[in-house]
Amino acid sequence: MPTNITLVRGDITEQDVDAVVNAANTSLLGGGGVDGAIHRKGGPAVLDECRRLRAGHYGRGLPTGQAVATTAGRLAARWVIHTVGPVYRDSGGDPALLSSCFLESLRVADELGARTVAFPAVSTGAYGWPVADAARIAVEAVRGADTAVEEVRFVLFDEGAYAAFAAQID
Ligand code: AR6
Repeated sequence: MPTNITLVRGDITEQDVDAVVNAANTSLLGGGGVDGAIHRKGGPAVLDECRRLRAGHYGRGLPTGQAVATTAGRLAARWVIHTVGPVYRDSGGDPALLSSCFLESLRVADELGARTVAFPAVSTGAYGWPVADAARIAVEAVRGADTAVEEVRFVLFDEGAYAAFAAQID
């Protein structure tokens, strides 16, 4: 069954889905934007697991374009899938790593058995990726993914981001 792509304007931390994706950084130890909101609302259980990941397999942090899951703590979702988007000016606009964030997050979702997954517009905030281009890359990646996830929900914080994603879906 093809993955159903839906769009909502809102806050990723409010989504009642199996997994929400965090626009994290390599440290996995928190930051601003989506990352700050997820850690604030998810509570210390999320950070505890992130610290354990850093003490174990991800001693040097989570590389750009990869994804890893933790508990979602107090969020309605069951899991947080952390991914690290590329910084636009460092990547030269190459879509490969940004696309990888979506594909790797869906691969992790499949491993978990998550069927509904909410994504923010990864890399379009602090990391500076132009939202129209990011929306095209994100939607193409999800459409091309081989996944059992039934719903991918893009959760867009502002009207401009919502419009950019809507232009890719219509
Ligand atoms: N729900 C949904 N979308 C949001 C929310 C929210 N609660 N808050 C912001 N956005 P960003 P990045 C939008 O900066 O560009 C952090 O410090 C925001 O308007 O969260 O991948 C990390 O620790 C924008 O469109 O992620 C990293 O260091 C989009 O989500 C770095 O920022 C992504 O913005 C990651 O930067």
